[in-house]
Amino acid sequence: MNVARRLGTMPFGGDYNPEQWPRDVWDEDVRLMAEAGVTMVTVGVFSWAMLEPEPDRFEFGWLDEALDLLHRHGVAVDLATATASPPPWLAHRWPQTRLVDEAGTVRWPGGRQNYCPSSPVYRERAVGLARRMVERYAGHPAVALWHVGNEYGGHNARCYCDVSAAAFRRWLRDRHGTLDGLNEAWGTAFWSQRYGDWEEVNPPRLTPFRTRPNPTSVLDFHRFCSDELLACFLLERDVVTAGAPDTPVTTNFMVMHHFDKLDYWEWSRHVDVVANDHYVEAFDEQPFYDLAFQADLTRGFARGRPWLLMEHSTSAVNWQPRNVAKAPGQMRRDTLTHMARGADGLLFFQWRQSLVGSEKFHSGLVPHTGPRGRVWDEVVALGRDVAALAPLIGSTVRGDVAFVWDYHSWWATQTGNQPTVDLDYPDMARVLHRALVDRGVTVDFVAPDESLDDRRLIVLPTTYVLEQATARRLADAVRAGATLLVTYFSGIADRDDHVVPGGYPALLQDLLGLRVDEFTPLRAGQRVGTDAGWHGDVWAEDVVVADAEVVARFTDGPVAGGPVLTRRPHGAGAAWYLATRPDLAGAGQVLAPLLDEVGVDGIPGPAAVQRVRRSSSTGSWLTLVNHTDDAVRLDVRGRDLLTGVVADGDLLLPAGAVAVIAEG
Ligand code: GLA
Repeated sequence: MNVARRLGTMPFGGDYNPEQWPRDVWDEDVRLMAEAGVTMVTVGVFSWAMLEPEPDRFEFGWLDEALDLLHRHGVAVDLATATASPPPWLAHRWPQTRLVDEAGTVRWPGGRQNYCPSSPVYRERAVGLARRMVERYAGHPAVALWHVGNEYGGHNARCYCDVSAAAFRRWLRDRHGTLDGLNEAWGTAFWSQRYGDWEEVNPPRLTPFRTRPNPTSVLDFHRFCSDELLACFLLERDVVTAGAPDTPVTTNFMVMHHFDKLDYWEWSRHVDVVANDHYVEAFDEQPFYDLAFQADLTRGFARGRPWLLMEHSTSAVNWQPRNVAKAPGQMRRDTLTHMARGADGLLFFQWRQSLVGSEKFHSGLVPHTGPRGRVWDEVVALGRDVAALAPLIGSTVRGDVAFVWDYHSWWATQTGNQPTVDLDYPDMARVLHRALVDRGVTVDFVAPDESLDDRRLIVLPTTYVLEQATARRLADAVRAGATLLVTYFSGIADRDDHVVPGGYPALLQDLLGLRVDEFTPLRAGQRVGTDAGWHGDVWAEDVVVADAEVVARFTDGPVAGGPVLTRRPHGAGAAWYLATRPDLAGAGQVLAPLLDEVGVDGIPGPAAVQRVRRSSSTGSWLTLVNHTDDAVRLDVRGRDLLTGVVADGDLLLPAGAVAVIAEG
């Protein structure tokens, strides 16, 4: 169900909140939308209080009028079920719906998304509204997509109230069967934690000073929280699908820098279209690398199919400590990078910059200054660019390297009492991804339980929790000819966070031809050298080689002289192991022989010019995004869809510019 294909254009637009503006502004809105080339807007995300001002009294008149107006002006609608943020009456009448934090403190309404995900009252009221929405608007010609909730878990992913506690106990019974099963899984013989009654079991609430809750309880709680919100989503989705079977349904994920609350591998099985919100971080001086990473990850959740960029910003946001404005041209580069990496629709938060409320300093397509000035001019130009991208609709990106991505490892390494606080699950994947982006090599992310059969180069980045089945699949892939890179602190624990005994990583020792006897993490800021010339930080460990070639050794630090990079041929392939976190140059050097081994060259070009290819049965398109301050010459052939320029082996791409070359 590709929305772009239905519209005949990649959706371009943003969140539109007409209820926050006087009626006469709406007419200007639709006129300006036409000027900017807006083809789709998201309506109703935070409209619950305006649609149901008191329980069971509905006011749909204004929304009828807004949808009709948009339709008359040719703007399609991504219609929200409007349940993201309950009105104040919910908490007032049903105080048990409020969110409670780990210290037992009630979080009060007044912000947004204040509800306990396990609350039967919230769920019933939300489903009630979703049902009314779909009954009323299922046949509306403007509605091209349904948008359930909004950014699930953005503010309320983890609730520790008594309602949540009861739901957690039910979830634990399903997972572990009996109390004995729970005691075994959580290892409660430790520290006198044995449970004798289900009622004694609670969410991992705040514990006495300098102790933390049982780590497996925390890991299970993270799984439970993802599942509880998914249950909220599914209740509404089922109502929408039943009432509007021909219209795709989505919800917007937050695949971005810091967001780790939901297992999007699981979530993405339940949406018709994967949609994502992405905001660049102001502290990051080269945010385009993280953007590329998150866009590739989103494509992974979409299982390689086109996805929708539901939100990003034209310029500054309002929720970071320092909200840096985008530089001229940056919005265009950001938007088109998402497109290059598989987005078939490019939307923003939000259409018109608010005059009131928390988001009044968040940029929009129409800024406070009105339809004039740099941001507006760039928006109008971008609308033209997006219209020119129609030939790419439905085309896909196929990466040369597969990275395994695993929420359970992310969660388990955050439960505290780990070998080092400096171990941050995404870090290793990030540095390797960046080195590959610089080489013009594209990464696909895969779930741990996904097939690896046709993958030539596989990376298992610091994947602490490893299932036996995944270990077997990795070994099979290598035997069949793949090259595998495993990085430190992988394959340490099982799904219940029990260390697999026998030296690390127990399930991969034979494949790698080595054993790790001891972790020797580094002090804050400490770096270790290697005889390959690059440096590592965060981690070192005592690697004992049994049957592998030592490719590089530590030259200093706690295990000076010990192996840092090893390789073991296995079947038709090879398994490599890396025992520290390399710097960027190191990441490039580590990966180079692996790429050679599998014959992957990457799309040629300079490092900070991102190069990604999309293709379909009708053609292939190479997107080039110049993040440098200099014009660059590139050896490409074809016609630039954005400028009409035809390149014949020598394209001059100005500083900061983007080209989308129709090849062949
Ligand atoms: C999220 C929300 C939007 C808006 C933006 C601001 O993505 O979904 O409603 O608050 O953040 O960046």
